[in-house]
Amino acid sequence: MTATQVSVIGAGHIGLPTAAALVSFGHEVVCAESDPRRLRILQDGGVPIYERNLDEALARGREGGRLTFVASAAVAARTAEYVFLCVPTPELPDGSADLSYLRQAAQEIGPSLLPQAVVVNKSTVPVGATHLVEQTIGRDDIMVVSNPEFLREGTAVEDSLHPDRIVVGADDQQVAARVGALFATTGAPLLVTDAATAETIKYASNAFLATKLSFINAIAGLCDEVGADVRDVILGLGYDHRIGFDFLRPGPGWGGSCFPKDTRALLHIAESANYDFPLLRAVIQTNETQLRRIVDRLETALGCGAPSVSEAQTPLGTSTIAVWGLTFKAETDDLRMSPAIRIISDLLTRGARVQAYDPTLGKAGGPVLPERADQIRQEFRADGVSDAKLDGFSLRTSSVLACEGASALLVLTEWQEFRDVDIARVRKALERPLIVDARNLLDPAAIRQAGFQYIGVGRH
Ligand code: UGA
Repeated sequence: MTATQVSVIGAGHIGLPTAAALVSFGHEVVCAESDPRRLRILQDGGVPIYERNLDEALARGREGGRLTFVASAAVAARTAEYVFLCVPTPELPDGSADLSYLRQAAQEIGPSLLPQAVVVNKSTVPVGATHLVEQTIGRDDIMVVSNPEFLREGTAVEDSLHPDRIVVGADDQQVAARVGALFATTGAPLLVTDAATAETIKYASNAFLATKLSFINAIAGLCDEVGADVRDVILGLGYDHRIGFDFLRPGPGWGGSCFPKDTRALLHIAESANYDFPLLRAVIQTNETQLRRIVDRLETALGCGAPSVSEAQTPLGTSTIAVWGLTFKAETDDLRMSPAIRIISDLLTRGARVQAYDPTLGKAGGPVLPERADQIRQEFRADGVSDAKLDGFSLRTSSVLACEGASALLVLTEWQEFRDVDIARVRKALERPLIVDARNLLDPAAIRQAGFQYIGVGRH
């Protein structure tokens, strides 16, 4: 098989795993990255984001000389038969998707594309945006197709190499089938459809998964009220093959760079089409409730459920809370729309002091990386936390150090190392033996035996 020349525009959470997978399927890939810092890291053989197995996957491509990195999208595109657009589509204040990076990429590559080249849009875009890219490029010989990605951060390499399905949407079904053939070695089912349907599939998938999570989080809340145990409820649900076990782990609420943005974007799409979608509104609202519920439960456990006259009089207002986990889930360094950030913002705003530990702060036992500390503070500011309240926030370099002198421990991310912690040392460090485990990560029996009050999500 002769290698197909492919380019990938954008070396981020989607672009890099996609590039690594395309190389492993036998293609030659030129990847464009406009951020000079990221580009330098990539050209020096490094990886600018944390993603499991990505370094090895990229190294394999580099060694074979089949993966290179350049600054210019136009340069990357000029030798490619297929150009994959993997640029971000962040959320605008009204909930719609910001398409400016996509437009800019289309403008840059347009003039340098080979005759008959195919542009493949992987970025998550509102229905109709694939045609917008086509119009922006403005060339009759160039076809733009939609090929949404379904990668999860943390397992993005694995998900790219072994996708559940490949969806390609285009006006010309033959071109769509050719794009599908780039992934033939995966053996995944190929669904060829039109662009609007492919774009809708992406939003529908994320909204459905978010619905599953809001549903199980709400059931967990109900379990707390009626004395049922959500873990057995999940078993009873999951054995029904129409429901399955996946995506039924209750937590502090869902977050990350996709679900919050994509559910709101889908709502915006529905509203623009004058289509009422109360179910989706409820899914989003349930998630907001879940984030608040975790802090409410902690507050109640600290003994301050009743309304008080001033913040300083509430136990939260005078407490130091230890927090484990800052990223939006384990196995990633991504802080965007992290439930942990949202929950800590709430704690700080209610007057608590917070000592946080996260495995991505730097080398174990070493100093906190200053760049990482800045990034974290930036997330709180973006969440509306004032500098005065932010003074109450500090970072610690181990899970035990975070607990020193704190009135309670709040577990917000499901890192394995939290499961393996020496609980006796945690007991010694905490001033009061109270654990609120928002990920149902720890074993309640062992924790209670060690002398703690344990509060999980929907567990008795
Ligand atoms: C999500 C989708 O799962 C991917 O299929 C999709 O491609 C991606 O968005 C995207 O649109 O790019 P991702 O945001 O990386 O992937 O992470 P998930 O593993 O889906 O987790 C999302 C949130 O749900 C996290 O906050 C996570 O902790 C939470 N979650 C997930 C739970 O609380 N419980 C679960 O059982 C699973």
